[in-house]
Amino acid sequence: MMGFEIKRFIVTPMLTNNYVVSDPISGGGLVVDVGEYTSEMRSYLKEKGIVPELVLLTHDHWDHSSGIEDLLKDHTASVVKKATNWGTTPGDRFVKHGDEFDFCGANVKVLETHGHTPDGISFWFGDFVFSGDALFAGAVGGTGARADHITELSTVRSSLFPLPDGTIVYPGHGPPTTIGAERCFNPFFF
Ligand SMILES: [Fe+2]
Repeated sequence: MMGFEIKRFIVTPMLTNNYVVSDPISGGGLVVDVGEYTSEMRSYLKEKGIVPELVLLTHDHWDHSSGIEDLLKDHTASVVKKATNWGTTPGDRFVKHGDEFDFCGANVKVLETHGHTPDGISFWFGDFVFSGDALFAGAVGGTGARADHITELSTVRSSLFPLPDGTIVYPGHGPPTTIGAERCFNPFFF
């Protein structure tokens, strides 16, 4: 595993986390969710010389996807999203649970984490995972119906909790955590 730099940007009134993942050696980069393409993110990419080749969309809620169009005016990046009809953001690559792809020598695996929305997926890089709004530090994403909440808990249990304890979780809102901490202490799973 290469030493990636992960930079978090907190955007929109929902305080959504957008992340830029970059490889200082190759200059490769990607963005996880773009709720808002802020001048701060634009400057960061420019100053670091990062050319994002991918936009990974954890789910198509406006606070995670509304800035993609603006980012694509500056950069030619492929939007990777779940293969589903849910959501309106155009995609370039459509993925499903178990799909894998290479990013700067790292193997990235797509994990199914729907429930919060039907198109929820997580992206596992080995040492860390982007969980979108499926799993937060001490909480899970909001759902409108009981059945969706139960589905969310189920997909987090089956897709994320089997990952190694030390896997860092970068969620769609709030601070990072680890798989081990959430499996042991997240009250939604007691
Ligand atoms: Fe969401």
